Order: sequence, then C-alpha cells, then structure tokens
Amino acid sequence: MRKQIAAANWKMNLTFQEAEKLLDDILDAGIKLTDHQEVLFAVPYPYLLMTRSEVEEEPNYHGAAQNCYHKSAGSYTGEVSAEMLHSIGINYCIIGHSERREFFNETNSMLMDKVNLCLENHVIPVFCCGESLPVRDAGRQNDFVASQLSGSLFHLPADKIKMIMIAYEPIWAIGTGKTASSAQAQEMHHFLRSVLADQYGTAIADEIPILYGGSVKANNAKELFSCTDVDGGLVGGASLIAQDFIEIITALK
Ligand code: PGA
Repeated sequence: MRKQIAAANWKMNLTFQEAEKLLDDILDAGIKLTDHQEVLFAVPYPYLLMTRSEVEEEPNYHGAAQNCYHKSAGSYTGEVSAEMLHSIGINYCIIGHSERREFFNETNSMLMDKVNLCLENHVIPVFCCGESLPVRDAGRQNDFVASQLSGSLFHLPADKIKMIMIAYEPIWAIGTGKTASSAQAQEMHHFLRSVLADQYGTAIADEIPILYGGSVKANNAKELFSCTDVDGGLVGGASLIAQDFIEIITALK
C-alpha cells in the first residue's frame, strides 16, 4: 500500500513550551502506526531538535522543516540549508507552501532548486501545489497545478521523483474553514496522479503519496482520507489542538 501521512504544519505558532506540551499530548495518546503510515511534525526551525528527540522512540513519527533555502551554503544571512537539516537528523521538508509562494515570492524555478537540494541531502520534499479561487472559478485549476508540477519536479529522473511527497492545497481552502469536498479532492488527486503517470508511468505514479491540505479537521479527515487517491493530509489549524490532530492521525487509511 502507498504511504499514508498525517503531516502537521504548525506555521509560525506556539512558544517552545507550548510546542513541547502539544507534542507530549499527541504522543501520549500512544497511537501505534502501521508500516505504511507516517506522522510528520513540521515545526519552526528552533524546535526541530526538540521534536526530533521527542519522536526518536516512536516508529514512523518524524520531525520536518517548513522550508529551506534554494542555495546550498554561503552568505545568506538568516537562511537554513537542506544540508543543515539533514545534519541534525531532519529528513523531511515542506517545499513551496502557498504562503511561501505568496509572501516570499517563491517561484517554480526556485522550488526546483530546493527540491534538488533536498534530494541531494537525503531530505524528502513535501512539495505543495494548489490553485487560488480566481483560477478555480475560471476552470483553470488542472492546468495551473500541472504547471506547478512540471515547473519544479519533472526534470527529476524516475528514481528521484519516487522519493517525494506531494500536497495538494487549494489556496481557497487554507485556513478558511472552507474544505474542498471529498469529490473535489479526489478529482484533483486523480488528475495529479494521471499527470505523474503521463510523465513517469503508472507504476511510479501509484507509489507517490498525494496529501490533501486546506481546513482538514477532526470531523472531515476520515471522509477525505477515504478517497482512493488521497493519502492523508497536511494540516495547519487543527494540528495545533492535540485532540483534533490525534483524531486526524487515527483517520488515516
Ligand atoms: P489549514 O492549513 O489546515 O489551517 O487550512 C493547511 C496548510 O496551510 O498547510
């Protein structure tokens, strides 16, 4: 079975003390993951080491970064490289979240460099894509999202694309409480998988996890995750509430 993933994206929230307590509360629930399930905690940089040590004894739970820089090293004050992440035992990184694309002007070509640097440094990219409301209203969501994939991922050879995870996050559903319906999510995930299949063949497309993100909550996770092509979720707001995220983990296939 394809990997099924519940990924928490804490964004720029929580003090260190609150973050430790939230992790403790979630891990204290003692949810044992199956071999094909993973839980990721994408936490702010200063909390990565604490997160790594909290999950050390928990099979299939991992810390993740929310971003890394698109250059390998050098005079880039304030930035963090993929190599640095790997050197502290962090092997997952969100790449190209819509908030980074919008507020930090990240382009498809910068994201391509980030994906390359992650893979060179054994960090698995969780590559985000997704359309805005005007794009969906114009019926252009498929072309838009396909161009995000081709612009940042399709230079990769087959053995490398297999390493990545994709998160489909319609911008109109992020933090708005307006979730894509399970039919809308399944339709887009199925489309993304067909785009991957056209490029790499169905065997590889069938291996790549595609997470849904955008107002995933305790009360809609089960329905979304039950869709054939939805392999879990990238969760913002609801990942900050222990009980809610626990329920989201238990909703994984
Ligand atoms: P949300 O955020 O769950 O609060 O909508 C999702 C995300 O931005 O990854």
